Amino acid sequence: MKVYFIGAGPGDPELLTIKGKKIIEKADIIIYAGSLVNHKITDWAKDGTEIYNSAYLNLEEIKEIMQKGINEDKIVARIHTGDPSIYGAIQEQMDWLDEKTIDYELVPGVSSLFASAAVLKRELTLPGITQTVILTRKEGRTSVPDEESLTKLAKHQTTMAIFLSISMIEQVVEELIQGGYQNKTPVAVVYKVSWPEEKIIYGDLSNIASRVKECNIDKTALIMVGDFINGKYENSRLYDKNFSHGYRHKV
Ligand SMILES: C[S@@+](CC[C@H](N)C(=O)[O-])C[C@H]1O[C@@H](n2cnc3c(N)ncnc32)[C@H](O)[C@@H]1O
Repeated sequence: MKVYFIGAGPGDPELLTIKGKKIIEKADIIIYAGSLVNHKITDWAKDGTEIYNSAYLNLEEIKEIMQKGINEDKIVARIHTGDPSIYGAIQEQMDWLDEKTIDYELVPGVSSLFASAAVLKRELTLPGITQTVILTRKEGRTSVPDEESLTKLAKHQTTMAIFLSISMIEQVVEELIQGGYQNKTPVAVVYKVSWPEEKIIYGDLSNIASRVKECNIDKTALIMVGDFINGKYENSRLYDKNFSHGYRHKV
């Protein structure tokens, strides 16, 4: 029938979209990324749904399950953490479905980035501070193009959200400072956002690494960097009474 890629959000099942939930309820096959997706979302499955945790599967096995489901005219829900378009490894699955002329659709999810901004109660694009957010990672077992090293990206002094890198926090800090961030640049590490174990560690580039180590955090955390965390910003023009736009005129 069809494969649906669904963004499960950062962990709290209530952060999964209504559209995604409705598909999970009618799916005949569910393949979910069990290392990060909350297994509670599988409670929404109807009786008899086949449920697979893709943490134990390789790409070929995932394709086989999808293909078999489609041959049997079934609905397949492929559930990824956060939003599937960010470090989701979905392109290779979609390209294969295209080759096979199997119909598919994507349902976006709440990225851990946006859930983190919510718990920090901060706007990522503050006027007078930065209008840009860089989503990136440090190279590890998977490489990152040279032009996108943290040192090079740091030159832009934007808001930065660094994924998949918490186990290398010391090197992250070193590269950001080498790239031009001041020691006093604020950093917030958000661990397991929206899960009961959620933890926020505040600091700056001079002390965040030791604070993270003290808390024994080495996975499932986002490193948020920049003056958006506590810098002095300007009010937005959007609701400025002296600023007119298509929907509102100057008073
Ligand atoms: C493979 S990436 C997936 C990102 C996901 N697609 C998203 O939009 O959030 C996994 C990384 O995302 C971040 N992450 C995912 N879930 C998280 C959560 N609940 N709290 C904090 N960081 C999370 C961590 O940096 C983790 O190493």
